[in-house]
Amino acid sequence: MENYYEKLIRCRDAVRAKTDFQPRIGLILGSGLGPIAETMDVVAAIPYKDIPGFPVSTVPGHAGRYLFGYIGGVPVVCMQGRVHYYEGFDIHDVVLPTRVMGLLSIKTLFLTNAAGGLDPDMEIPSLMVIRDHMMFNFPNPLVGPNLDQLGTRFPDMSQVYDPALRQVLHDTAAKLGQKLSEGVYIQLTGPSFETPFEVRYYGSIGGGAVGMSTACEAVAARHMGLRVCGISCITNKGAGLSSQPLSHEEVNASGDLIAERFSALVTAAIPAIDKA
Ligand code: HPA
Repeated sequence: MENYYEKLIRCRDAVRAKTDFQPRIGLILGSGLGPIAETMDVVAAIPYKDIPGFPVSTVPGHAGRYLFGYIGGVPVVCMQGRVHYYEGFDIHDVVLPTRVMGLLSIKTLFLTNAAGGLDPDMEIPSLMVIRDHMMFNFPNPLVGPNLDQLGTRFPDMSQVYDPALRQVLHDTAAKLGQKLSEGVYIQLTGPSFETPFEVRYYGSIGGGAVGMSTACEAVAARHMGLRVCGISCITNKGAGLSSQPLSHEEVNASGDLIAERFSALVTAAIPAIDKA
């Protein structure tokens, strides 16, 4: 059987066979946040299903393709749709699309997601810069033989989310007159939403938001030495913090409500991130 590193290279080469576009920033779009791609000047679109061996998402609302092009004049590769551990993928496949972007020589990874808010007073929907993360009962994507070609066995994670890039996001939001909070993102496996007790617990240990993606991609990216930043779109209050039951439909509808604000922020931030 082909080893994992060979698979990564084969996926990278399959992308390279379709476009020689050179992105500097990789942008991963979370549930319901795909429409930002409409603000992009697209040069090439590569459906994941056209890359042999590439994991393809089964989640409604996840388009499943790489888009290459320009946002604010900066060459970017955008992942419109990602795969999740809860879909049954091996954790190494969950981070494969991120690593392929690293092998395409991006310098910075910009992560986005939909998440549940842990602060009972948080506005819904709202946007949160990710300051740090915790993977709670979630497998580390670096488990297994170390890929020395990508990075070191024991990578430092003391500043996963680049402080200078976090500042750029806050400065950009201020210029646009947008509110932007900052907090810790907790990644869980899903796919069930949390119980009210779990939400109280994650809030009590200092979490700002809970979700089912992102942190593992950030770890894989830092392993490769990429700069990382991220924004959570807080689409709902965590279970028990509001009287309503949670649903994927509510998450998507709430994402739609904030999509324009989110697009404006990301589009304005990307040139500044590229320079930072
Ligand atoms: N919990 C976990 N993941 C989520 C949530 C939530 O409340 N909202 C959007 N993604």
